[in-house]
Amino acid sequence: MKTLKDFKVKNKRVLVRCDFNVPFDEKGNIEDDFRIEKAIPTIEYLVKNKAKVILISHLGRLKEMKSSGCEVKSYSLRPVALRLEKLLGRRIEFLEDCIGERIEKRTKEMKQGEIFLLENLRFHKGEKENDPKFAKELAKLGDIYINNAFGACHRVHASITDLPQYLPSGGGFLLEKEVKVLLSVLENPWRPLVAVIGGVKLESKTKLLKELLEKADHLLIGGKIANTVLIVKGIIVDRPWPSEKVVEGIKELNLTSTKLHLPLDAIASPDRTGKIYIRQSAPAKVRKDEEFLDIGPETIKIFSKIIKEAKMIVWAGPLGYFEQPPFDKGSKEIAEAIVRNYKAYKIVGGGDTLFALSQFGLRDKFDHVSTGGGAMLSFLSGEGLPGLKALE
Ligand code: 3PG
Repeated sequence: MKTLKDFKVKNKRVLVRCDFNVPFDEKGNIEDDFRIEKAIPTIEYLVKNKAKVILISHLGRLKEMKSSGCEVKSYSLRPVALRLEKLLGRRIEFLEDCIGERIEKRTKEMKQGEIFLLENLRFHKGEKENDPKFAKELAKLGDIYINNAFGACHRVHASITDLPQYLPSGGGFLLEKEVKVLLSVLENPWRPLVAVIGGVKLESKTKLLKELLEKADHLLIGGKIANTVLIVKGIIVDRPWPSEKVVEGIKELNLTSTKLHLPLDAIASPDRTGKIYIRQSAPAKVRKDEEFLDIGPETIKIFSKIIKEAKMIVWAGPLGYFEQPPFDKGSKEIAEAIVRNYKAYKIVGGGDTLFALSQFGLRDKFDHVSTGGGAMLSFLSGEGLPGLKALE
């Protein structure tokens, strides 16, 4: 894969695919600008080297745009342009579309060091449909294509997989760093390597668990996915049986491996506010009218002990229903245990986990905070990412 420094960018129109898919609050303010911040070194390098910088990105999902009843306008990238302008301390010109004659003409009139941000790629269905016509339209806007959108590299979308066919292409600094760090987990980790996996959706994580059970020295599982594994293991009974796909995925895991650590105790409650009552229980003894909402103190103790000995730690997915205290205790104490291990290289990723970490004020204590949610999980599952393949 070529990277930014392999290109002569002076006076060239450089089309940079970013992942500015950032969360917004109800008032339409950007809630977390971490992904915007991470794009800055690439943009600054291009400006310093006298390129003409054209930024493209998606925001939101078409389905959500339609079903939310929100005007599509509320998925505009305009607020991102304003935030970027503030963070960079440079003027960003926002263009109201991302293809078409008018846009092409504007890019041809650009001066060295100028920066444009184009409107949301997903306003055109050709993006998601990976339509070559749409990709060719985008290609008319640049002389070089740089993919800096690691978080979108698991998508087979026009600006990710098709566009690089039509322009000299390479990866930006952010993409390069993500690949380097995450590859080290799979290929030459510092040992002991400890993986901590939680969250809700097991469908997207069974391959990940398999890969990490092979590669890591310890795999610690919490969150709703631990619950599902315990059901398939037969430890928790009388619960809805997971989907066939999930069961097959779990059965492929070596469930007797001594590297695999499941919760020994749970925090259970009949309601998610925890107002009726909360109790500590063995997972098998969580009653039918209760939910397993967090890992318990015994599990925290054992997980923390394993984490203390690690040289490399990778974490994706909260370990309980962290949105509602006191069910955030497991995630918080495990985050603290990770941070206390000052000698380990600490990697974290995934939207919910990053949100939890910023609530605990611990995000900046990690060595590598991945901008990828699904992309990081796919990468660590050992599946090649289509966006990276397209740059080869
Ligand atoms: C993400 O937020 O994980 C990336 O921006 C990809 O977004 P998507 O899941 O909507 O494709």
